[in-house]
Amino acid sequence: MFYLFPFGDVPKSEGVIIYGAGDIGQLFIQQLEVTRFFSTIYVTDKKITSAKQEGAIKFVREDALLRLPAYPIIVASLKFADEIELHLKKLGVNANRVVKLNANHVMEEGQYEPHTFDWNEYYKDAEEHNEVQFQTYLEPLMQKYHFNLSQVMDFACGKGRIADLLSGNCESLICVDTSQEAISHCASRFDEKENVECRISKPEKIPADSGSVSFIYSWDAMVHFDYKSVDYILSEFSRILSIGGYAVLHHSNAREHQDFKADKNWRKNPHCRSEFNAEDMRHICRKSGFIVEEQQIMDWGIKALDCISVIRKC
Ligand SMILES: C[S@@+](CC[C@H](N)C(=O)[O-])C[C@H]1O[C@@H](n2cnc3c(N)ncnc32)[C@H](O)[C@@H]1O
Repeated sequence: MFYLFPFGDVPKSEGVIIYGAGDIGQLFIQQLEVTRFFSTIYVTDKKITSAKQEGAIKFVREDALLRLPAYPIIVASLKFADEIELHLKKLGVNANRVVKLNANHVMEEGQYEPHTFDWNEYYKDAEEHNEVQFQTYLEPLMQKYHFNLSQVMDFACGKGRIADLLSGNCESLICVDTSQEAISHCASRFDEKENVECRISKPEKIPADSGSVSFIYSWDAMVHFDYKSVDYILSEFSRILSIGGYAVLHHSNAREHQDFKADKNWRKNPHCRSEFNAEDMRHICRKSGFIVEEQQIMDWGIKALDCISVIRKC
């Protein structure tokens, strides 16, 4: 959620007092620092125990409130706005000075597609978990199915942490991702590996010739794809995979989860999982010419949050 400072509702004044130093208060401070709307900014609430100044912002104890100039007081809370207003009145604040938020100041965060999201934080953190994820989930499937590794594709490879572990087993490996930065990183990471090629992908087209790929895997990326995106990407997989070629796809199982109701906006769900599940994958496979060989429902922080589908192009 984004909370807009109620610029239009605050009477003209040289200074302002924000009541509440929590998340909403911090958002207000950021907006006021950028806009420089007021020359003096005080922040106060019950939890501030000693006065301090950070840049232009003066944090003061609540019991100092009545000694401050009579600037408008903006309540940095939506849920507790009425309670805080009452509290301020009890402290002796004139009700005319109190400005509360209304629903128009609350804005839903935009619905990012996974390919427009900034994954840099993720790339940094994920590198620590490569081996354990590979050995626990992917390696047993490699041993069981003996996939044809002549022309492999890592779909949505990120900075290549899984490709690094698998490349030694592949005759040739194509890493694709929509992130230019991730692909540049992969290109230098695999500079010495002659069998690895890195290509920038587009959400609407994977850069590979029809029928040119023998095996596709995708790890911890399609978990954020909604039904429409998976449906579309599977039509691309169907185009580029040779007949009989397998794909191992790690995807979400959050739709109709027993512990929570998955939101349409993947970023609102636990571990940013999309509103998609194993049944959806079976449905898409049926209509796109894939046989589902097996599905492993797996835990990811939450029981049964994810699924690995092993599918084969027929
Ligand atoms: C959470 S990261 C996972 C990266 C990698 N598979 C790993 O395990 O480290 C998700 C990746 O998916 C990529 N991505 C998202 N949508 C994509 C799409 N439609 N086609 C290709 N890559 C995509 C992002 O750029 C990002 O690098």
